[in-house]
Amino acid sequence: MKIAVIGTGYVGLVSGTCFAETGNNVTCVDIDQAKVAKLRSGQITIYEPGLEKLFERNVKEGRLHFTTSLEEGIQGAQIIFLALPTPPGEDGSADLKYILGVAADLGKLLKPDEFKVIVDKSTVPVGTADKVRAAILKTFNELNPEPSTINGLEETFEVVSNPEFLREGAAVEDFLKPDRIIIGAESDKARSLMTQVYQPFVSDVNNLIFMDVRSAELTKYAANTFLATKISFMNEIALLCERLGANVDMIRLGIGSDPRIGKQFLNAGLGYGGSCLPKDVQALWKSSSEVEYDFKILKAVMEVNRLQKQFFIGKVEAFFSSNLKGKHFAIWGLAFKPNTDDIREAPALEVINHLLMRGATVAAYDPEAMGNVKSIYGEQIILASSPYDALTGADALIVCTEWNEFRTPDFERIGSLMRERVLFDGRNLYDALKMSEMCSHYESIGR
Ligand SMILES: NC(=O)c1ccc[n+]([C@@H]2O[C@H](COP(=O)([O-])OP(=O)(O)OC[C@H]3O[C@@H](n4cnc5c(N)ncnc54)[C@H](O)[C@@H]3O)[C@@H](O)[C@H]2O)c1
Repeated sequence: MKIAVIGTGYVGLVSGTCFAETGNNVTCVDIDQAKVAKLRSGQITIYEPGLEKLFERNVKEGRLHFTTSLEEGIQGAQIIFLALPTPPGEDGSADLKYILGVAADLGKLLKPDEFKVIVDKSTVPVGTADKVRAAILKTFNELNPEPSTINGLEETFEVVSNPEFLREGAAVEDFLKPDRIIIGAESDKARSLMTQVYQPFVSDVNNLIFMDVRSAELTKYAANTFLATKISFMNEIALLCERLGANVDMIRLGIGSDPRIGKQFLNAGLGYGGSCLPKDVQALWKSSSEVEYDFKILKAVMEVNRLQKQFFIGKVEAFFSSNLKGKHFAIWGLAFKPNTDDIREAPALEVINHLLMRGATVAAYDPEAMGNVKSIYGEQIILASSPYDALTGADALIVCTEWNEFRTPDFERIGSLMRERVLFDGRNLYDALKMSEMCSHYESIGR
């Protein structure tokens, strides 16, 4: 099948590559000329385990193409996936300008000759599919005032909701072997095309879940906000542990073994970040208030997450008696989570901003995210060539991301490089008892 993917970022590039891997002819479109040029020259633009090999194979086999031209990209495509950004607008709601802009452009290009499915793969509020449809028809109508042609287009496209659930860092695996594929569609024709394209990824017939469009749109927000709620809940339990002398790691093991609760997303830490959870919690809260529903849990989830970072920074402040000026910090981990180079809303950035604002200096290391961080801080922080390189002369080490390579470091070497053996463990990575013996000061969260 011929497929177009509009927006070639984390979701678009992974989806496009995986659809090509199953034999489809895929064209990925992006307005970022530098990105498209890089992809066309055979270079990958994001770090995602396993993606490069698939990307190279499918480009070589002639199934994966890149262009900046929407017209060229959608030529002959039966399915057009929109994998465009939906960042938070000023009021916290999802900003639909990228989606609706492309929808308006599609209205200029679609012809009533072949049935096409336009798929919202981006995370979008309930009602977006209707807006996309209206935007397409509006431009089409302006260009084609003949009523008979308008009716023609109305019948030859459908807007479907197919939210994406891949996790950065495991995106390829998630896409190839999804837990579930959610499809909100109205017609059998659209359902049949979507089934055709997803069939190779369906290991169990129950993984392909069809529903109405509005429920599909809301399912994605319900999933992400539930995960954020789990994280904030555990972070509050961790704070309680510190006051009551309990250990949050034990609580995690104790409750995670209950299948009704599940083991994942129960780690206490620096709070959630990334390109999805913060904006999606905010957007659902905003959507709720627009229909006069005060979503009380979501308000608390956001507040706990904001305070969690402050609470951790407070530990650093307290240890140095609120005098960080002239102190030098090593930071391990910049990406918002391991196995990605994505630094959007990464807690590490909030920690660094605070340290710089208080007159401290910073040397940081991350296996994949340093390029992205350099574009924010330039020469303001030192980007080290290895985790140990970051430690030279440091008054304290702060661990912000739980990359595997930080899990069993050479603590003797760490101690010999640092000015003081002071460790703030924002991800509860190390054995607290051992650390309290090896460090002159060790702090983690909820233990
Ligand atoms: N990143 C994730 O883990 C993830 C997971 C599930 C869902 N989502 C959702 O998927 C959507 C995309 O997220 P992402 O992380 O891939 O974003 P991204 O910022 O990595 O990629 C978006 C791409 O769209 C391009 N773009 C912008 N305007 C365009 C236009 N008019 N025409 C063509 N291309 C255009 C940008 O240049 C960029 O390359 C968002 O709604 C997000 O919430 C993201």
